[in-house]
Amino acid sequence: MRTQVAIVGAGPSGLLLGQLLHKAGIDAIVIERQSPEYVLSRIRAGVLEQVTVDVLDEAGVGARMHREGLVHGGFDLLFKGERHRIDMSRLTGGKNVMVYGQTEVTHDLMDARAAAGLTTVYEASNVAVHDFDTDRPRVTYEKDGVKHEVVCDFIAGCDGFHGVCRASAPRNAIREYEKIYPFGWLGILSDTPPVHHELIYVNSQRGFALCSQRSTTRSRYYLQVPLTDKVEDWSDEAFWQELRMRLDPAAREHLVTGPSIEKSVAPLRSFVTEPLRFGRMFLAGDAGHIVPPTGAKGLNLAATDVKYLSQAFIEFYADQTQAGIDSYSERCLKRIWRAERFSWWFTSLMHRFPGEGEIAQKFQEAELDYLIHSEAGSRTIAENYVGLPLDFGR
Ligand code: APR
Ligand code: PHB
Repeated sequence: MRTQVAIVGAGPSGLLLGQLLHKAGIDAIVIERQSPEYVLSRIRAGVLEQVTVDVLDEAGVGARMHREGLVHGGFDLLFKGERHRIDMSRLTGGKNVMVYGQTEVTHDLMDARAAAGLTTVYEASNVAVHDFDTDRPRVTYEKDGVKHEVVCDFIAGCDGFHGVCRASAPRNAIREYEKIYPFGWLGILSDTPPVHHELIYVNSQRGFALCSQRSTTRSRYYLQVPLTDKVEDWSDEAFWQELRMRLDPAAREHLVTGPSIEKSVAPLRSFVTEPLRFGRMFLAGDAGHIVPPTGAKGLNLAATDVKYLSQAFIEFYADQTQAGIDSYSERCLKRIWRAERFSWWFTSLMHRFPGEGEIAQKFQEAELDYLIHSEAGSRTIAENYVGLPLDFGR
């Protein structure tokens, strides 16, 4: 078959790109290795910057988010046993974030795609990308034992960190930057009311913890754990017990516990690929970069990549200009490195690093103390957390 844009991967990046292109009348197909149920079973962060909310609205998939999402104007930093609120809204001239799970975003995108009658091939095997250094790239895959070929103008590599697109880029044309952190996040989801109406980021001697939420009746909590810990090592009771010990007395008292409905350990990684374009193949979202989850920038970066990529394709077809395509990689990478820096910094500030000793904790506590008492310090964290404007630094 022939299409204008072949999108590899039906995570939030691929589905959002598909939706934006559909709105602009550009023909695309989405090819995904897994089943829709599998894609929806992955639990990821749930804090959307205004920029992301705007892109979802532009794609026409924002209605349920506005109905069910929770608007947060601040969050708490807990250290030395005390909680301090960062009033994001005041510090950034009225900006907020939207708490709405990535699973819900993906669900809304899938529904919109189905409603528009657009093609998504799920459970495609042996997906491969070819000839993206020519003006006639191809994607091949197998489905139910039958081989298929898609001839296209462009390939969008939205296939996540373990995808085939980045792996197919010529080795001499690609540079990868990576940092792996010496701990993981153990997360649980439970149908219990959140301990607090906003998020709490915890620096404690026992390690980092995060109290997040999906709704007023569903909570998401995380604990920093050694990389060697397995989910099976942690009963629900052990999780709640450890979380309690990392909280302040008031939160400890308010914490409502219950059975977990999901429990998983995730590694933490900073990773960036340069460039994000190889001829007529483009990387977007986790295919091109990974942030550690502290600050929840992953989905937000994916949304801006996709916004820029859709603009580039729209300009190409409507105005016959290559400008957006030529500047895609550089434009995205500027924003990516800023979010990578913030995510690395926030991770470094809040976690225990094995072997660094008590002085490291003292440095962190002194920095946190400075941040909450300095208007400039508080604003630095607030403006990064709500997301820097798209035209920042230009
Ligand atoms: N062929 C087809 N599809 C593939 C292949 C392949 N060879 N390899 C991977 N995929 C699919 C995966 O199954 C997955 O559904 O690509 C999709 C990539 O989705 P995500 O990993 O969710 O990545 P992305 O869409 O870029 O979303 C970024 O996810 O990890 C979070 O923090 C991140 O929130 C951010 C968001
Ligand atoms: C989440 O709700 O899963 C979440 C929220 C904030 C983060 C990371 C994860 O910084």
